[in-house]
Amino acid sequence: MAEAIKGLLGQPKTLAPWLFYDAEGSLLFEQITALPEYYLSRTERKILTDYAPKIVSLAFGRHRVMVVELGAGTAVKTGIFLSELARRQGTVSYHPIDVSATALRAARLNIEASIPGITVSPQITDYTVEALNYARPPDTRVLLMYLGSSIGNFSPPDALDLLLKLRGELLLGDLILIGADRVKDKATLVSAYDDTAGVTAAFNLNVLRRLNREIGTDFRLSNFKHLTVWNPTESRIEMHLESKISQQVRIPASPENPQLEIQFVRGETIHTENSYKFSSAMMGSWLLQAGFTPIKEWSDADYLYSLTLAEIVSK
Ligand code: AVI
Repeated sequence: MAEAIKGLLGQPKTLAPWLFYDAEGSLLFEQITALPEYYLSRTERKILTDYAPKIVSLAFGRHRVMVVELGAGTAVKTGIFLSELARRQGTVSYHPIDVSATALRAARLNIEASIPGITVSPQITDYTVEALNYARPPDTRVLLMYLGSSIGNFSPPDALDLLLKLRGELLLGDLILIGADRVKDKATLVSAYDDTAGVTAAFNLNVLRRLNREIGTDFRLSNFKHLTVWNPTESRIEMHLESKISQQVRIPASPENPQLEIQFVRGETIHTENSYKFSSAMMGSWLLQAGFTPIKEWSDADYLYSLTLAEIVSK
């Protein structure tokens, strides 16, 4: 929480997006993925369903393939791909990674019950900082799955650091399958992050409730409003919480800080999230800079979303 306090005291004020995902925020995010405006999840699922056989054919060459998945959650989407791989190989090792033990328990139950021949070995960890701790069967390539356009929530330098870290934990010939939301018209992008039912607004505001509960701030949620901005220069959707009035918010004293007051002028915002939107060239360049060579990209018919398969061709 020291990071949250630092962000609130900075100029401009910021909060890190991982703060969204307390129990309430995780439930709200599940609801977001089913919203009519939030096309990302259903489009990614359709691409995976339509192209799973092609992706498996490209990945499964001379070697067997095991799947390591970052931020696997309950692994609902991955099931499509794992079924296809199990059908081809007979057996599959699946190593889902997530910070949520509950989600991983559900993933293991779902996947083991529905896919014969699969071995699931979950890892509860924050993959951005901790090592990937998977057991590789002999003569097996790793296919690292990174779905949901989660890479888009990192700034370009942080994304590069993360991709370099991941590459360092893989071997020559290993692969990454990465999901990315594409650049498109502003109206479609903005409404995906500002839905009419107000679920994304509730998700954004919930971060203030979390801070009140966990660090004892006295944010009044009704004094803030959800704001979604398309920033074409940076190619990203930004989420902010805008102060409706001039106000002060108290941060109680802690071992690291004396009691502090944060001042807001009317219209000032806390920047809570960036969600980068990609062209094929942009995703290709992020991957190449990190040492992954793109092999193929798949999109839906409307070019809303893409999955890119890339390989480590030199080490
Ligand atoms: C998790 N992440 C990829 C979501 C996104 O689209 O950037 C988080 C999200 N924020 C608001 N709606 C969804």
